[in-house]
Amino acid sequence: MILVTGGAGYIGSHTVVDLINNGYDVLVVDNFCNSTVSVIADMEKICGKTILFENINLIDKEAVLALAAKYKFTSVIHFAAYKAVKESSDNPMKYYENNIVGLMNVIQLMQKSGCKNLIFSSSCTVYGEVDKVPVKESSPIQQPLSPYGNTKKICEEIIRDMTSIGAIEAIALRYFNPIGAHTTYLLGDNPQNFDNIMPLIIKVAKGISSHLNVFGDDYNTVDGSCVRDYVHVMDIASAHVKAMERMRKGKMEKAFEAFNLGSEKGYSVFELIKTFEKVNNVKVNFKVVGRREGDVSNIYSDSTLAKEKLEWKINFSIEEMLSSAWKRSLKQT
Ligand code: UD1
Repeated sequence: MILVTGGAGYIGSHTVVDLINNGYDVLVVDNFCNSTVSVIADMEKICGKTILFENINLIDKEAVLALAAKYKFTSVIHFAAYKAVKESSDNPMKYYENNIVGLMNVIQLMQKSGCKNLIFSSSCTVYGEVDKVPVKESSPIQQPLSPYGNTKKICEEIIRDMTSIGAIEAIALRYFNPIGAHTTYLLGDNPQNFDNIMPLIIKVAKGISSHLNVFGDDYNTVDGSCVRDYVHVMDIASAHVKAMERMRKGKMEKAFEAFNLGSEKGYSVFELIKTFEKVNNVKVNFKVVGRREGDVSNIYSDSTLAKEKLEWKINFSIEEMLSSAWKRSLKQT
């Protein structure tokens, strides 16, 4: 059985569906702090199977370790974490406790269960403000610009230390900016807290918000707004299945491996808005405001390593990302 923490979340749910459709048994552990229980039913509709889940907060060590008596895990995919950059600057301890203690408990559960395979949901944020794009895995890990980013860096370090004593083997997947929705439109990004750009663009396009605040137009980029590497959430999900298979087949070259997951293309905020408007034939009003604390100016990936070693393929274009996100939102009230 594969344990998927945060399996009701945005990337987690797409990955759970992909795992089940590839024949794996999955246990979802989630406390629904940034998702809803209805996601379980939606995943069941897509897979045509009942999905096992436990409502557990990962900082509850006793509840986490108790899972060892109930299930036999062969791999763990650990998504569950807080991810709002701004909130993490306002309340660092909330982030350190949830993201780091949560991981520590998950690893201790693995040790108790005799499970050695871990896939960790990391982020390009570990590269900080980079000197050179596209970013490769060999780029130096820098001091991240937010406590959120720092939790990802610290978690990678904890994992690396555990791999170096042979306790586990691990693959860290460093996501760039996942957007888009499942091709059935039954799953998508349903945040309870709005901070990422895509859900905010949708709110404006639907008339729920008057405009998008564009955080800065004075960066040293193509048009002054920040540049990011947007990648379809289903492409991100498929990389987890591939990473797990790499581990299970004993193909890892080191006990700790890290892979970038991005589309290798940079889009500015203005370009993203324009493409969204064009693809979906809607208007997105915006206002330029000051820079957001913790934002890097320009980052996009070199994902060659994932393509080579994981045999990962990008299947979706930016247009498909933006159109699926919009179509999914039209299905919601
Ligand atoms: C950051 C991290 C990413 C992490 C994610 C989690 C970096 C480079 N990326 O993504 O690894 O997984 O947080 O949440 O550190 N924007 C606006 N107006 C808005 C919201 C966003 O202009 O109202 C802009 C931002 O300035 C940024 C882009 O949109 O340029 C994307 O922002 P967002 O979706 O929040 O993701 P990142 O901050 O890039």
